[in-house]
Amino acid sequence: MTGLVVRLAPAKLNLTLAVIGRRPDGFHDLHSVFVPLALADRLSLAVGGRTDTLHVDGPDTGPTDDNLVLRGIALARAAVGEGPGRPVTSPLAARLEKRIPVAAGLGGGSSDGAAALDGSLDAWGARDLVDDDRRLAAAATLGSDVPFFLAGGAALVEGRGERVQPLRGLTSGEVGVVLVTPRVAVRTPDVYGLFAGAAAAGGGAGDPSIRQSSEHLAHEFRAGLDAAGLLARAGVLAAANDLRRIAEFIVPELIGFRRALMRVTGRPIAMTGSGPTCFALYASRADAESAATSIRKAVADGGVPSPGAGPPGVIVTTIGATPGEIAS
Ligand code: C5P
Repeated sequence: MTGLVVRLAPAKLNLTLAVIGRRPDGFHDLHSVFVPLALADRLSLAVGGRTDTLHVDGPDTGPTDDNLVLRGIALARAAVGEGPGRPVTSPLAARLEKRIPVAAGLGGGSSDGAAALDGSLDAWGARDLVDDDRRLAAAATLGSDVPFFLAGGAALVEGRGERVQPLRGLTSGEVGVVLVTPRVAVRTPDVYGLFAGAAAAGGGAGDPSIRQSSEHLAHEFRAGLDAAGLLARAGVLAAANDLRRIAEFIVPELIGFRRALMRVTGRPIAMTGSGPTCFALYASRADAESAATSIRKAVADGGVPSPGAGPPGVIVTTIGATPGEIAS
């Protein structure tokens, strides 16, 4: 189909993130279990105009995300190519409703880029002309997290992000998630840069126990893990991110912030990606809602500090993406 395409671009959580080592290209090899969240941006693409354009709506917009949408469209156009038998890849007017906090470790910009890359092909009726390998290669050039979003669903992500092995999602049950995003900037290249310095003596690898936790979780997902099984592992997962201590070194206030969240929720608090978003897992969305209410109250009372430029953002969601294609 051609014309108007509307896609949901989900956020992600890294349930584990083990750094395996530094690569000759400067990136890091990872072993990470990614899951998509119901929290999503909404991207619409309509054929029209003289050049590709992007309009962004939402409370928390940022320049980095904008780029990935337009770059995703451009990469899709290059992948389709020109010539006899090729459809005209007309300019697209993109509209992005941002709901995922930007630069937060939630993969919002990467997800928008993947939705743009994939959705453009449908807008032009060109899906069959670009095979999966070609799309994956284009996604990898957009950013390390983009291939995961292109594949969709829970996955074991390896390499710098280009190796995506789908995992069975949770076999049953709902997992509620509270995301708490402090208003501090933790730049991903800075986190990996410092990690490389700190881990150089050990060959660039992270904590072996984190790698073990990550391998174990991937194995359990393959065998079939339900919501209760995942929740029972929340304590292990909260310690299973090699980048957390680096983010907390860059912004030391994050340590007190995470501890305060542990006190208020009585739950293990994990960090996703290179941060700074912290999260806690719950047996239902309703439980996550009531935890979010306690956190907001504690922020207002000063029981949870507000590092950076204002009170942290508190969002409730669930694990598992809402189906991503609304219309095409
Ligand atoms: O690919 P992406 O733009 O998301 O990466 C941002 C930065 O994070 C890279 O420039 C690199 O410094 C670092 N990175 C890394 N290893 C990864 C992913 C990202 O070193 N697997």
